Amino acid sequence: MNIWKLYFLMNCCNLLMIICKDMVYYMYRIIRDIITLFAKKIKNLKKRAIIISQNPSLHLGSDCVFQNIEYIHFGEGVVLGDGSNLLCTDEYKGAKLASNPNLYIGDSFHCTRNLTIQCAGKIEIGNNVLVASDVFIIDYNHGVLPIKDNYLDNNLDISKGITICDGVWIGNNVVILGGVSIGKKSIIGAGSVVTSDIPEYSIAVGNPAHVIKRYNQETMAWIKICDEKMWGINDSKIDK
Ligand SMILES: CC(C)(COP(=O)(O)OP(=O)(O)OC[C@H]1O[C@@H](n2cnc3c(N)ncnc32)[C@H](O)[C@@H]1OP(=O)(O)O)[C@@H](O)C(=O)NCCC(=O)NCCS
Repeated sequence: MNIWKLYFLMNCCNLLMIICKDMVYYMYRIIRDIITLFAKKIKNLKKRAIIISQNPSLHLGSDCVFQNIEYIHFGEGVVLGDGSNLLCTDEYKGAKLASNPNLYIGDSFHCTRNLTIQCAGKIEIGNNVLVASDVFIIDYNHGVLPIKDNYLDNNLDISKGITICDGVWIGNNVVILGGVSIGKKSIIGAGSVVTSDIPEYSIAVGNPAHVIKRYNQETMAWIKICDEKMWGINDSKIDK
């Protein structure tokens, strides 16, 4: 065999070894990922079974995540749609927070899907609250002082809490920030960002959310704010 043939053969063997090594490595990674996935699924199913056994009237969608569930109160008949995340934080960067979080969810709460609640202080949700998809509620911030390299390094700035009263309806893609209260039977329009209190029986929309209509108990109709201001109650502009 001449030297070139030998050289060619050796290179082929080398290449084959590299391919085999890579194949073994990728096979190992695939098998490891499959086992991890199954282990995670089984762990989640076990967790889910425990949560349901402790809260028998809770209707739980798939892929819901709970962090520190011991700080969450579920009322009767709560429906949590697929992909919802209820995350309670009692420590930050290894240090315990001054007080434990408290997430209270009242009776007959219904959320469609992908609700995320991040609670480090107090969030109180009344009875019969309806929440559409992809809503985000958070009662804290990273401190906003721009001195440290990363805002993550600031202490958490925990608000005075969030209150969502009985019978509120929150539209799709709403964001509710810390320290606000939403009054009884109010409606928050899709895509709104709630940064300040919304009184009861009001419809609020936009970023920041502002009240556009108020419910008149006597006429049993929603009245536009501009009509209230200009004319008092103007029948021609009342939405029946
Ligand atoms: C808030 C909502 C209920 C308002 O209903 P409505 O009283 O019939 O309001 P109107 O359609 O009369 O609109 C009044 C004004 O608010 C504006 N508006 C309505 N919804 C808005 C919203 N989500 N964001 C910004 N502006 C909005 C309208 O453009 C209108 O403005 P104009 O007066 O300048 O024309 C409705 O628009 C909404 O957002 N629904 C939520 C939908 C949803 O998420 N469904 C999920 C099912 S659970």
